Amino acid sequence: MSKLLIEGKKQLYGDVCVQGAKNSALPILASSILCGSESVLHNCPNLSDVDTAIKILRYLGCKAKRQDNVLTVNSDGMSRSDIPVSMMREMRSSIIFLGAILARTKRARLSFPGGCEIGPRPIDLHLKALRQMGAEIEEHHGIIDCTAPFGLNGAKIALSFPSVGATENIIISAATAKGTTTITNAAREPEISDLADYLNSCGAKIYGAGEGTIIIDGTEKLNGCQHFIIPDRIVAATLMSAAAITGSHITLRNIIASHLEAVIPFFEEAGCEISVKGTDLSISSPHRLKAVKMVRTMPYPGFPTDAQAPVMAMTCLANGTSVFVENIFESRYRHVGELARLGANIKVEGKVAVVEGVKALSGAAVEALDLRGAASLLVASLAAEGITELDGVKYLERGYEGFETVLNSIGAAVKKI
Ligand code: EPZ
Repeated sequence: MSKLLIEGKKQLYGDVCVQGAKNSALPILASSILCGSESVLHNCPNLSDVDTAIKILRYLGCKAKRQDNVLTVNSDGMSRSDIPVSMMREMRSSIIFLGAILARTKRARLSFPGGCEIGPRPIDLHLKALRQMGAEIEEHHGIIDCTAPFGLNGAKIALSFPSVGATENIIISAATAKGTTTITNAAREPEISDLADYLNSCGAKIYGAGEGTIIIDGTEKLNGCQHFIIPDRIVAATLMSAAAITGSHITLRNIIASHLEAVIPFFEEAGCEISVKGTDLSISSPHRLKAVKMVRTMPYPGFPTDAQAPVMAMTCLANGTSVFVENIFESRYRHVGELARLGANIKVEGKVAVVEGVKALSGAAVEALDLRGAASLLVASLAAEGITELDGVKYLERGYEGFETVLNSIGAAVKKI
């Protein structure tokens, strides 16, 4: 298992381009199954989670070829409708393939995603919605066996929680269903809008993505298209945290500032100056950050849960007390114990984490336990005195493309061993 050695206290400088969004690429790759022809996806990040999605597409009999950040997929030769347990275990979010496989082949057989590093990942909202659309679903021995011999029908679906994955599975299932589907209390994340943009370019009729109510008029046939994946707003927030904690001034290129509207105010509260020009965002940070009073994670457009860990790292050295409330996932504070090994002073009580800023962090051997936790430890290590050894790099590589190279290109000293 590879590790990263980070020499802290390096000032960062210069420009860095933000990768394509993992959480947009994955549902779009799954939904490409609906089109029996070729799609070309540009700005697709080179990540292990994307590799897993490619593996699943190939297992299903689809073609998938990567050329740097361009992915060419074609589900014309699709011949299976199941995903092996091993692949489901590799990536919980493979559940996003359920709707696409079912809509395309009228059956789907997947295992329950099971819990993951950040807590149980229930899929009750996904299954309830698919049943409303006419799917017969049996759940036994951890396997979900779905059939829709007469295809799927449009339905009125009210989500009890604006689940991102459930919203995506419904959109994908409804795109070629018979009749109209309405989703109320839908997730509003930008990745939902990107999925809808891709499918509409393929001929789908999806209205209102990004709003709380989405209407999908089922269409017979969808044809592949060219699509540019949106930038990754969580990677952008992570790079901003890296600049903030090291008192640096950097410019992020290829961002969509409106996707960061819930995040930017916290960097400004911490004393950073943020300026946006088109698709560039410059952040210039004070020598010592101020604490951020209260960060509550919420569904979009609220503060994103995926940015909680990296932003928490930034507050470890701030002057004062910062409070985080994690409202989305049950156990998304596993990075706290490891941050403490670097000298951070954080107390967790249920959903609440209280960070008392300290004067200095010192390098140590730490271990990443999940994707955003890995990013959090990396951010903190950039400002720690001495060398930090970060284990569990496989988690980082699920969501951050060549991150050590990216950080070194703006002045960090990160070595992979
Ligand atoms: C997506 O996960 C993202 N993953 C997550 O990013 C992100 O944290 C999450 O949305 C919230 O924004 C991808 O897009 C691949 P949810 P998802 O369904 O779809 C509960 C990362 O770090 N829930 O919105 O699984 C669930 O338990 C990853 O990039 C149900 O109760 O998130 C959770 O508490 C981590 N029943 C909450 O809703 C369901 O049927 C949010 O889950 C579905 C979800």
